[in-house]
Amino acid sequence: ALPDRVTIYEVGPRDGLQNESALVPTPTKAEFVRRLLAAGLPVVEATSFVHPRWVPQLADAAELLGELGEAGRDLPVLVPNERGLDRALELGCRHVAIFGSATETFAQRNLNRSLDEQFAMFEPTVARAREHGLDVRAYVSMCFGDPWEGDVAIDQVVDVGRRLVDLGASQLSLGDTIGVGTAGHVRRLLTAFNEAGLPDDVLAVHFHDTYGQALTNAHAALEHGVTTFDASAGGLGGCPYAESATGNLATEDLVWLLQGLGVETGVDLAALVETSRWMAGVLGRPSPSRVVQALSPA
Ligand code: HMG
Ligand code: MG
Repeated sequence: ALPDRVTIYEVGPRDGLQNESALVPTPTKAEFVRRLLAAGLPVVEATSFVHPRWVPQLADAAELLGELGEAGRDLPVLVPNERGLDRALELGCRHVAIFGSATETFAQRNLNRSLDEQFAMFEPTVARAREHGLDVRAYVSMCFGDPWEGDVAIDQVVDVGRRLVDLGASQLSLGDTIGVGTAGHVRRLLTAFNEAGLPDDVLAVHFHDTYGQALTNAHAALEHGVTTFDASAGGLGGCPYAESATGNLATEDLVWLLQGLGVETGVDLAALVETSRWMAGVLGRPSPSRVVQALSPA
């Protein structure tokens, strides 16, 4: 049986905007976050405390949290290392997310570390975050394939995920960074994690839509038993350090699926579509989400 309710973890302001080359003004980002919260999204990942030269779009992370005030402190932010954690702690953030790679090449390209070295960077970051009472989520990227290495063995993904949880992460988000996964692969990967002692309630799924499989993959994960789904308003997104990564699963498409299944999300779809249409105007191009298009006036 399907769950009565699931959690949508909105990544539009972070994963969505990080890939946009034209800088979006900080007040516009703040309005985006506020509108997503007002549309009923329970978790909105706000920004990243990464090196500003690596992701210039999110160099205004501190200013954005300043604009968001008290509400901003409950929004998760990415931190790759202790320097990022320090910046988040200074602003009173209560939720941080580290992001590891299942492959050697992407660890090098995204974190400037080897696969093994990434854990040495995360270990003190998570330990100190926990000492400060912060909740830590961990992403694993390239769980279904890597643009440089091709297929990625399920055992290797489970090993990386297990190590991140062992450091003290409370939730593991399994990323199909380049959108090559298919439903059968999703089921096999989730089953392998369960067999390694990580139950569905510790797992989240994070799909990109490069091959048009994101929604189908989310459905497969839902039927498997996962109850936390990452998605990006309007289908914004991509990772600047991953070749061929397109937008994330659109939050609207996910909400439409879940509504039809009678699974509660708390999201007001009309308000969300309106928000994505507004952001599409800001970015100067239409949303790729079919649901946004279908629910937009002609
Ligand atoms: P590095 O160059 O190896 O850094 O980069 P370092 O540790 O050698 O430090 C060099 C200098 O950078 C030092 O300054 C540090 O203080 C400074 P100096 O002493 O020379 O003056 N520095 C920082 N400054 C501000 N904030 C920081 C920070 N860290 C160091 N946090 C680093 C290593 C991890 C920093 C770099 O590789 C980086 O920022 N990478 C981020 C890449 C990124 O953001 N990618 C996108 C997010 S991941 C993603 O999108 C996938 C996901 O959506 C899931 C999926 O789809 O799979 C999550
Ligand atoms: Mg992503």
